[in-house]
Order: sequence, then C-alpha cells, then structure tokens
Amino acid sequence: MQFFLDTANLREIETGLGWGMVDGVTTNPTLIAKEGKSYLPTVAEIARLVPGPVSGEVLATDLAGMLDEGRRLAGLAPNVVVKVPLTPVGLSAVRSFAAEKIRCNVTLCFSAAQALLAAKAGAAYVSPFVGRLDDVGESGMRLIGEIVEIYGNYPFDTQVLVASVRHPMHVVEAAALGADVATIPFKVLEQLYRHPLTDAGVERFLADWAATGRRFED
Ligand code: G3P
Repeated sequence: MQFFLDTANLREIETGLGWGMVDGVTTNPTLIAKEGKSYLPTVAEIARLVPGPVSGEVLATDLAGMLDEGRRLAGLAPNVVVKVPLTPVGLSAVRSFAAEKIRCNVTLCFSAAQALLAAKAGAAYVSPFVGRLDDVGESGMRLIGEIVEIYGNYPFDTQVLVASVRHPMHVVEAAALGADVATIPFKVLEQLYRHPLTDAGVERFLADWAATGRRFED
C-alpha cells in the first residue's frame, strides 16, 4: 500500500520524506489556501521536493478551463497528477487527459457508481472520501470495499486512493480491503507510529539498563 501525504505544508512533507514513509502527495484548494501561498508555484515546489506522484487540483469548472489548467499543472513536472472533480465535465476532461497521457486523480468520489465512471473515463486514481461519508452517517469503508471488488472484476488501471482519512483505523481498514493508496494528513501519519506499550517498553528497557550503572561500551 502506498502512503501519500494529504497536505500542502512543506515542513510536513520534508519530515514525512525523511521518515521514508511518503510515496506521494495530494493537495487541494483548501490545503493550499491554509498555507497562505500562491497556487501553481506551491504545486511546483511540492513536485520538486517529492519524487512520487503529486496531485494538483484544477479550479475551473468548465471543460475548456479544466483542460487549460490541467495541462498547465501537468506541465510543471512529470510527476504531477491532475486532480479533477467527479462531475460530467470533470470526467470528460479526464478522458481528454488520458488520451494525452496526462494522469488524473478523480476527486470527491462518494459512491461506487461514481468510481465506476471514473475508471471508465481512464482515471489513474479515484479518491473516495471516507471521512466525509462517515460524517453524514454513511460508511466510508463499505464504499472502499465495494470499489475494490468492482475494480477487481475488470482490467481497469485505476488505483483506489483512500482520501479524507481522519484516523489510523481508516488506514488499517483500507489496507485490509486492498486499497492501493491512502492519502494521510500528517497528524494521522504520526499517530500510525504510536502505541503506549512501545513508549512504556522503551522507557523500561532504558531504566533497567541505567540501573546497572554501566555504559553502552561496558
Ligand atoms: O484531499 C482531499 C481529502 O483528503 C480531504 O479530506 O478531511 O477535508 O475531508 P477532508
């Protein structure tokens, strides 16, 4: 399973890369706005920093605008993936981008039917938003299971990229279901490492050795 960081924060990206746990990055307009930075230059900077796929989202909602913005995003670097919303116009853009060998991440997917359309349009990734589904009383993980099953029935190349991840169990359950990628907020990546018994165990080992009064070399 690949881990992408869901952030536009360069410090978080550098830290995650340093940990060897970041295979790619996803951004969206909300995340870039939160950093108070300009749009295209931020995607370009992240794409320079990260060797793997970096998703940058189109802002336009019309086909011509999406195609123009998508081509500009893809032109920034070979690892930029164009993020397009799951609308009829968005999927038309995905079809055109696929013909141009521009990879797309279809975002804002909330149903298996939508995921099927994204795969048929030629998306490289589909992003089901599990947290936002849970927020409205639906099951994000049930949707991941459905999409993995449906994609398994056909020779689609589209990867299931679990988005809107809110806690470590989203990542673990998505992995158990066979999702290809989880895009994870930095806070959740940190949480994945944590277990109170690990911390207690380290403390105990060190205390027991310190009690001997000897050094590492001794
Ligand atoms: O990048 C899209 C997605 O991961 C957003 O997550 O927490 O705003 O629902 P969230």
